[in-house]
Amino acid sequence: MAEQIADETLAGRNILLIISGGIAAYKSLDLIRRLKERGAGVRCVLTAGGAQFVTPLSVAALSEEAVFQDLFSLKDESEMGHIRLSREADLLVVAPASADLMAKMAAGLADDLASTVLLATDKPVLLAPAMNTQMWEHPATKRNFCTLLDDGLRAVGPGQGDLACGEVGAGRMSEPLEIVAAIENILGTPLETATLKGRRAIVTSGPTYEAIDPVRYLANRSSGKQGHAIAAALAGLGAEVVLVAGPNNLPDPGGVSVRHIESAAQMLAACEAALPADIAVCAAAVADWRVAGEAGQKMKKDGSGQPPALKLVENPDILATLSQLDQSNGSRPNLVVGFAAETEMVIDHAQSKRARKGCDWIVANDVSADGGVMGGDENTVHLITEGDVENWPTMPKDVVAVALAKRIADHFGAG
Ligand code: C5P
Repeated sequence: MAEQIADETLAGRNILLIISGGIAAYKSLDLIRRLKERGAGVRCVLTAGGAQFVTPLSVAALSEEAVFQDLFSLKDESEMGHIRLSREADLLVVAPASADLMAKMAAGLADDLASTVLLATDKPVLLAPAMNTQMWEHPATKRNFCTLLDDGLRAVGPGQGDLACGEVGAGRMSEPLEIVAAIENILGTPLETATLKGRRAIVTSGPTYEAIDPVRYLANRSSGKQGHAIAAALAGLGAEVVLVAGPNNLPDPGGVSVRHIESAAQMLAACEAALPADIAVCAAAVADWRVAGEAGQKMKKDGSGQPPALKLVENPDILATLSQLDQSNGSRPNLVVGFAAETEMVIDHAQSKRARKGCDWIVANDVSADGGVMGGDENTVHLITEGDVENWPTMPKDVVAVALAKRIADHFGAG
């Protein structure tokens, strides 16, 4: 089915795509197609590792341009020097970004065409990392990735899932359309406004666990994917981010300070300790109730056949608490964003929630059982601001996160 492409952000823009070594390089061929069909010019640099996975011929045929591979090739240098190659692009995209290439970039090495072009550029750079989970989670890779984010590079992914090496975990390169969305995001907003440099953000994510006794707890099915992705996207735009995370199975996002907590009371205390902040995004699925008088020892059956009665008391509402802080003395974050997971009348309920809690924006989504949002990778959301409702298309959660981070940057840019 032919895809309808309404967005003209990429028409006439020039992308330099650097394909480094990794099995995910096959997805970069599709990325070239997607960029071309949106009207972008695509030039490619293929590293020696990248050329083990995709051929120069396929890259040249899809990009309709010569492929650049060799730093010391007289032919390439005479036609297009590496400085020109990097400067003529509007954006450099490294997809896949291998652990090795990121390590070189973080260290400022320039021993092949890709690393030289990346060192010589004065243009924004977007990384789409792809590698085995152990490599992604290795402290050296984390350190290099954080260095690159601190240097102002942007990133999309990696996602979780089945990896080509047969393992399951973080390290999967984002899908071509997710990378396209991240590119549109960067090129669609002037760089000077798409920044949150100097802004401080608090993000809540994941479920809370409310203890019944030392071994049992009340919880919910939140995965934390959306909240973690938002923390990463805000950090990607330069914000200093504190992520207050309930129990989850996700890796800590790079470039973000994470406070691991369990209960709603601990989440509130961690948020209050992280103040002052310019931005608060409450994406956590906080338990509405906790058990009154948590038992100090494991509760036992008493032989009567009667189950114990659990008395519940209401938890503090973190979103409402942050929203209702005093703006006049700077205690309240300038922009407080809540989430509304609804199963019916999504927009109506979300609008009244915005008013009731006193937050500025609500991101509303339909979590009815057949939607697959809880724990899934995609989300269909509506952004509810004062007097306006935007319906966003269904997008992967990390693309929703990038779009939200950009809107937040626009808010501060405009304000
Ligand atoms: O009231 P409801 O739970 O539907 O509201 C959802 C929004 O409120 C989310 O942004 C959630 O993070 C936030 N919330 C909170 N503290 C609570 C309950 C919800 O911050 N105790």
